[in-house]
Amino acid sequence: MASTKGQVIKCKAAVAWEKGQPMTIEEIEVAPPKAREIRVKIIATGLCHTDVTGWKGVLIEGKFPCVLGHEASGVVESVGDGITSVKEGDHVLVSSMPQCHECFMCKSPNSNLCVKFLESLGANGTLADGTTRLSCKGKTIYHFISCSTFAQYAVLQDGFFTKIRKDAPMDKMCLLSCGVTTGYGGPVKVAKVTPGSTCAVFGLGAVGLGAVMGCKRQGAGRIFGIDINNDKKEVGKLFGVTDFVNPNEYQKPIDQVLMEKTQQVGCDYTFECIGNLGVIQSALNACRLGEGQCVVIGVPPSGSTIEVDPMQLLFSKVLTGCFFGGLEPSEVPALVDDYMNKKLMLDELITHTPPIEDITKAFDLLIQGKTLKTVLHF
Ligand code: APR
Ligand code: ZN
Ligand code: ZN
Repeated sequence: MASTKGQVIKCKAAVAWEKGQPMTIEEIEVAPPKAREIRVKIIATGLCHTDVTGWKGVLIEGKFPCVLGHEASGVVESVGDGITSVKEGDHVLVSSMPQCHECFMCKSPNSNLCVKFLESLGANGTLADGTTRLSCKGKTIYHFISCSTFAQYAVLQDGFFTKIRKDAPMDKMCLLSCGVTTGYGGPVKVAKVTPGSTCAVFGLGAVGLGAVMGCKRQGAGRIFGIDINNDKKEVGKLFGVTDFVNPNEYQKPIDQVLMEKTQQVGCDYTFECIGNLGVIQSALNACRLGEGQCVVIGVPPSGSTIEVDPMQLLFSKVLTGCFFGGLEPSEVPALVDDYMNKKLMLDELITHTPPIEDITKAFDLLIQGKTLKTVLHF
């Protein structure tokens, strides 16, 4: 095939013209990468709640018209000046959680945050230079959190991607680009769950099931899986839940139920994987005194607050949280190896694989909670 390097590529994309309005499939133009950028042929892209919040403009304010999407795998089509970490033909995962290796946050071993992440959130739909690489019908199309993967090609800035091994199946790997990694890292990287401990995972979507896998991997003795949907009982057990609890089947608050089930000791670790304020309170309440850790992984509506009784903190409970499971993009290839060595389950999470043309329907199913993970194909 003739090289497209240096040329504008015309390709298919789902364009969100206005906040919350159905997306349409369009031919868009994707400009070549500038210095310290790469252009990637997107192979598979997952749907994540952050795309929904961006589309609705409720959490991350999307700038419209835009191409949403940030959980994806692809092949490097061309690289701009100054890119040394990948070359044409390399396989990569998109990362909305960047790593520049240079800023004070990247230099800290205690955090996976990078100043480029904060800059990207504040960039208002452009890349760092204040422009976009996308257009359609003569109009500027904005990027979504520096990614925009609901298109056949995406331009990514240095640090916003991770090279992965070529023998890993791209249609499964895209799950490690956001959701599953976000859940898995909570117990593995942030809480560092200890063998034999008691864990509780609130919410058994793809993120929560990622957390369940992380707890199991760390050798947790007991893993409560808490969900208001009884359909999650079987799938939860498949991933490692030892005790499924549906809060709606009890007359008392779920934290009291968990206290009773642990002889009033409480859980060593709790993980909130929903983004529900009341559930965050329950997850903190259900932690054991003296050393229990509550990790917030789900993303609540922006601007919301929780009330914390300082006594909980004086009694040495830890309340913490993380984006992207506290993991840096450079740690993701190890998760790819885990999948290839059958230590991490991804196939079982993929419930829907529609073509990009069905994207609005796929968003509806996600909003209705009828999917675990949808992977779109072009
Ligand atoms: N108590 C228990 N379970 C609940 C409750 C509740 N009050 N409310 C919802 N759930 C369950 C749902 O039944 C569902 O199984 O939580 C699960 C959430 O799963 P998904 O909607 O599939 O969400 P997921 O993709 O896993 O993401 C969860 O993480 O990254 C963030 O923005 C994302 O906040 C979202 C969260
Ligand atoms: Zn995401
Ligand atoms: Zn950085």
